[in-house]
Amino acid sequence: MTSNGTNDGTSGGTSGAAGRGTGGGTSGGTSGAAGRGTGGGTGRGTSDLASGGMGGVVRRLGGRLAFGGDYNPEQWDEAVWKEDDLLMRWAHVNLATVGVFSWALIEPEEGRYDFGWLDAHLDRLHAGGVSVDLATPTASPPPWFTLAHPDAMPVTPEGVRLTHGSRDTYCLAAPAYRQACVRIATALAERYGDHPAVAMWHVHNEYATVCHCDHAAAAFRVWLRARHGTLDALNDAWGTAFWSQRYGSWEQILPPRATQWHRNPGLALDYRRFWSDLALDAYREQRDAIRAHTTPDRPVTTNLMVPGYQVLDLWAFGREVDVVGIDHYPVAPGIDAAADTAFGADRARSFGGGKPWLLIEQGANTVYTADRTLPKEPGDLLRLTLAHIARGSEGALFFQWRQSRAGAEIWHSAMVPHAGPDSRVFREVTDAGTVVARLGELAGSVVRARVAVLHDSDSWWALDGQGLPSASLDYHRELRRAHRALWDAGVTADFAHPDDPDLGRYRLLVAPALFLLSDAAAERLRAYVHGGGTLLVQHFAGVVDERHHARLGGYPAEPLRVALGVRVEEYRPLDAELTTPLSDGSHATEWSELLRLTDPADAVASYTEGALAGEPALTRHAYGSGTAWYDSTRLDDPSYAALVARLLTESGVRPETAVPPGVEAVRRHAPSGDRSWLFLINHTAAPITVPASGHDLLTARAIPPAGLTLPPGGTAILRQDSPGSS
Ligand code: GLA
Repeated sequence: MTSNGTNDGTSGGTSGAAGRGTGGGTSGGTSGAAGRGTGGGTGRGTSDLASGGMGGVVRRLGGRLAFGGDYNPEQWDEAVWKEDDLLMRWAHVNLATVGVFSWALIEPEEGRYDFGWLDAHLDRLHAGGVSVDLATPTASPPPWFTLAHPDAMPVTPEGVRLTHGSRDTYCLAAPAYRQACVRIATALAERYGDHPAVAMWHVHNEYATVCHCDHAAAAFRVWLRARHGTLDALNDAWGTAFWSQRYGSWEQILPPRATQWHRNPGLALDYRRFWSDLALDAYREQRDAIRAHTTPDRPVTTNLMVPGYQVLDLWAFGREVDVVGIDHYPVAPGIDAAADTAFGADRARSFGGGKPWLLIEQGANTVYTADRTLPKEPGDLLRLTLAHIARGSEGALFFQWRQSRAGAEIWHSAMVPHAGPDSRVFREVTDAGTVVARLGELAGSVVRARVAVLHDSDSWWALDGQGLPSASLDYHRELRRAHRALWDAGVTADFAHPDDPDLGRYRLLVAPALFLLSDAAAERLRAYVHGGGTLLVQHFAGVVDERHHARLGGYPAEPLRVALGVRVEEYRPLDAELTTPLSDGSHATEWSELLRLTDPADAVASYTEGALAGEPALTRHAYGSGTAWYDSTRLDDPSYAALVARLLTESGVRPETAVPPGVEAVRRHAPSGDRSWLFLINHTAAPITVPASGHDLLTARAIPPAGLTLPPGGTAILRQDSPGSS
């Protein structure tokens, strides 16, 4: 989460594809290089124990998974530090994220560093057996910096320049800020690059701030020149013939600042692409400064936010970080928190190409969000910790170790609450630490999925724009629902980018909200179906290309039309309050389309009311060796779940193991292939018997073939030898 006041998820712009800007270099520009488009990082689905990813960290932790959190000792005194040492031992803490917001202490005035206090804490932690995830403090520039460089303060779309007094108050395009970031990252890396406490590096904190100042405008123009080449190409891409927006020089182009009415969607989309590339550049500068002074087995990363309000192309970041690290705070209680945990975890794993990743922040208890607080119920802390680990996290860290007694986040929960160690929360933390300490054998194991949900920033950013034909088009709502339907069906899903060259590894692809689609991606999806895959494309898909130009002659993009055997002739938003029955007993909501079947495609369900009565709503088309489905409406939740269940059956994808509703079953596989670990997590309030056997890591008991009974909220992690292995 973030409390950042300038985090302008909607007004900053829109989506983007290639975006390989070149100009700018360091200090305020983007060197582009993001190169969005392909799937996650390298090493898909393979262990990284041998490489510098989480393998290096686990080795430094003595073969254990990570457990700990943000540690801010500068908020406390020596008596508390002594207690911290003791309590961290009790809680089996082995990794502390240090220095995230320490800039003012490390560099009290420009160019003068005070490392003494940090030396002492790192040495103390090391002596106590706690390794450090050492952060660069650049998410919160100190007052001296902001006073000296007012031009480095961010400007809102309305033209308000923000001032010091919170955090995240900086402009990534401001040369002074970028230079100061590299300076302090270098100074930290020079001093601590081979410090024995340091196990990994943590650049910045949740890149989130979007700015609209003149530095940003200059960097944007450089990025645009690299992307479009000529002004003519830019004018064409943005459709500036409409509303007299034609640009006669690059200097006329501005960031998407407050306007009278709808912005140009091409400009808005490119700004989102540009900003993500700019943030990635800023990350890379710090990463490279650190890499120059540390060892390759100490990975460098940043903590990514996965909710819908973040502003980055997470696929691009996934390729540039050594380990994907995410912060995750469920947005709803109960079973929804469990599903949301899986949603975040599956995305984290996918952004890293399947490699082990790390949960860098979660809450120990109450989290404040924009409009609510969300307490963790007794037992949630361990259960959700294990739910992350089940999906590939090499441990679990919290924000933060000790609840602050002053400052802006006094009321954010922590591992040691205000009440101190004699508290339910700290007892649950200690229990969770004890459990995680037993799970070292999982290190390096990976999760495999046969199903993926297509997910890209371009579609999200474009659908996050203005002037769309319905207010109910919501990228993340559809993305979540697709994942949730699979989660409810007990199936582990990856996320995949439409440009992924290896989509054929999945038996089933679900494509919700694929609003923007390039020709190349449409062709890739066609070929996927032709080669034997099953594809579900949901309404209003492939309707614009990567320039945000409408597809002419019918939607979606042509190669995909061939696979689907349909051509969308007309879209007809429905009254958001109404539900319309379809011919097969399912129900349509919010949206409908007039389809033409261009090749014998089955109309699995038809509209029964209104102007489209009798017209196909849901189609199924056998194409090549595969099958392509098109859902031209937004089915209601039960109908959508039934459709997904049918697709799973038809594509031969079964749940990991048969479990009752509310029990999560996920498997981590040893890279050697000779064993796996089946996680069974009971998210319900009732005991549930599951017919699975193996050696339970949590109770250290052998579970016979008759199975085991999971208590309410209980988890088992069953080590199972793979058939055929000795
Ligand atoms: C984010 C930040 C932390 C803290 C938490 C509060 O995750 O990284 O510094 O503010 O939110 O939820």
